[in-house]
Amino acid sequence: KNRAQRKVWTEADFKETMPERKANAHKGNHGRGLIIGGSAEMPGSIAMSAVAALRTGAGLMTVATAKSVIPTIASNCMEATYLTLDDTNGFLNARTAVPFDQYDAAVIGMGLGRHQEAAGLVQQAVEAEGPLIVDADGLYHVRSLLNRLNHRTGPVVLTPHPGEMAMLLDVSVPELLQSPFAYTKMFAEKYQVYVILKGTFTIITTPEGAQTVSTAGNQGLAKGGSGDVLSGIILAMIMQRQTVTEALGNACFVHGKAAEWLTEEVHSVYDLIASDISAGITNVYRTLL
Ligand code: APR
Ligand code: MG
Repeated sequence: KNRAQRKVWTEADFKETMPERKANAHKGNHGRGLIIGGSAEMPGSIAMSAVAALRTGAGLMTVATAKSVIPTIASNCMEATYLTLDDTNGFLNARTAVPFDQYDAAVIGMGLGRHQEAAGLVQQAVEAEGPLIVDADGLYHVRSLLNRLNHRTGPVVLTPHPGEMAMLLDVSVPELLQSPFAYTKMFAEKYQVYVILKGTFTIITTPEGAQTVSTAGNQGLAKGGSGDVLSGIILAMIMQRQTVTEALGNACFVHGKAAEWLTEEVHSVYDLIASDISAGITNVYRTLL
């Protein structure tokens, strides 16, 4: 397929595939989500993921992190609940058994750190069932677990930026960017995972090798933390019982459109910061659904 034939995820797709909120709904209908990550040096990352997940429509959010990180998240997100994981000087280790079976979906990796002790936590996540999203430092740790991903019952979604994708492929970033579609397709098919390759344009690839492009978003998103917000949005979309492909298309759409609206109406591409993005989700939902 050449570029012109690739599907772009549109506003019409979003409107058509977003599940309706039933009048008799309760919080359990909208999913229980688990976010694992954070560390003493990166406490804000998972706070932004949690807020974004709730704004996107998640029913219940639990954040699993180090004890010292919880106050930072709690002061920015009053709706989340917590699971305290064992840590070594503010960095998570794998000594706590995470009860993955109590959640509908989980995301791991934001603010986690690349220290060896965290690898076992990612391994726990990979060995659990249910939908799993791996982002940021989780992608670093998942490198040695790639061959186990196709044994899982639930889908796996990897959300690398080009640097992380190049690391997973063991190629250089310029090499990846010469053929991003071909590289991601090869990788997604080989390991049977969904891949969201982020950037100015975002490429969504299924384990079958089908590819969709998201063109939503702008340079206002080129700041630390935007990716953490996206992973929270993806978690929430997956919990809301759409197909995975629909959930991923809608997640990238909402993230990008929120930024576009914010930089037109409230902020600029200079001053937008990642924690602003969740407020823009409100506008996307209010105007399009
Ligand atoms: N146009 C459109 N979208 C953009 C643009 C742009 N010019 N720049 C960035 N984005 C979007 C990307 O598509 C993606 O959704 O913003 C998000 C950025 O995500 P990441 O690259 O993961 O950035 P983030 O995680 O916020 O910050 C960097 O990633 O390498 C890790 O842990 C490391 O802290 C670091 C973090
Ligand atoms: Mg990132």
